[in-house]
Amino acid sequence: MLFDLRPKSSRSDLFNREDELRELDRAVSRGYPLTLVLGIRRIGKTSLVKAFLEKHKGVYIDARGVSRRSELYERIGDGLYSSLSRTRRLLEGIRGISIAAAGVEVRWRGSDSISFTGLLQEINKKSGRFILVIDEIQSLRPPLSAELRSLVAYSYDNLENISVIISGSEVGLLRSFLGLDDASSPLYGRYVHEIHVDRFAKDLSKEFLTKGFKEEGLKPPGETIEEAVELFDGIVGWLVFFGRSYLDGTRDVEKISGMAVKLALDELNKLSPREKSVLKAIAEGANSWSEVRSFISEKKGIVLPKSTLTRIIDKLEMMSIVKNYEFLDPIYRKACKRLKP
Ligand SMILES: Nc1ncnc2c1ncn2[C@@H]1O[C@H](COP(=O)(O)OP(=O)(O)OP(=O)(O)O)[C@@H](O)[C@H]1O
Ligand SMILES: [Mg+2]
Repeated sequence: MLFDLRPKSSRSDLFNREDELRELDRAVSRGYPLTLVLGIRRIGKTSLVKAFLEKHKGVYIDARGVSRRSELYERIGDGLYSSLSRTRRLLEGIRGISIAAAGVEVRWRGSDSISFTGLLQEINKKSGRFILVIDEIQSLRPPLSAELRSLVAYSYDNLENISVIISGSEVGLLRSFLGLDDASSPLYGRYVHEIHVDRFAKDLSKEFLTKGFKEEGLKPPGETIEEAVELFDGIVGWLVFFGRSYLDGTRDVEKISGMAVKLALDELNKLSPREKSVLKAIAEGANSWSEVRSFISEKKGIVLPKSTLTRIIDKLEMMSIVKNYEFLDPIYRKACKRLKP
């Protein structure tokens, strides 16, 4: 069902990502040790990697919201359980892993325990390719962040049967997390294959919405579809949000857009007051470093130190919210206009 709000997990539910799936298939069949799946929020990265795994032996681990080691191992257990139909034989007999009807238990402390690295080493000993997907790895904090970075580097150098795929929405932060350009990082100088997940062009957005509504037995007026295509700019997560809200009875496209803006605003409100001021300035049309600085100075009576402003703009770009003083998602631009830093 196209308008399902959760990430898709099967290729048959995935709309128009054949090229990306083929690229992932190719990367894995060539034995690339590390592939990145990059794209802005709600563009469909998780759906792509999950649907990809449907045909492979592998595990999907969601790193978002993981702050403790116990949570990491819970996520590993959840991931192993979801892919059990393909990986059961591989996991059977591995110390520290118990397979039961209700779930997969990973013993990570005490006697007969296994570490994440140990688990991958055991899997690597068996024949055949295994895929480890880690979603939003850049959101991890120390010490787990450093541990997983080392794990990815170790796998890259030593585990020839394992392909790691890392997906993430904060593209710059993800690259900097991995430290590919940082001489002190264990992954320094390694080749990584990158796959970019992009927005749908207008005709595809239209086809997506029309098909999604048809599945639900509905045919909204052409102008409603056109309006939504314009507002949500081919970002599939917003198109699904629109489709679902419309089905639930909200027929006013502007109103649905307002609901989306509210969601974006909730996320943006986690940023610092200074970061919010910069975003607001850009949303109001400031399109250079000096215009942002004067905007904040005039509206707020605060002159941001030069280095502070540069650092904030860098961070906002690393988070994939803006690029060259433009928003990557029009809903975020609208949300930023409403920020009250
Ligand atoms: N190719 C697709 N076909 C149909 N629905 C899709 C597709 N890609 C994503 N979706 C839907 O769009 C929404 C967002 O998708 P998903 O969670 O995969 O994106 P994401 O890029 O991982 O988002 P986030 O950055 O928030 O983690 C979900 O409702 C999902 O079902
Ligand atoms: Mg995701």
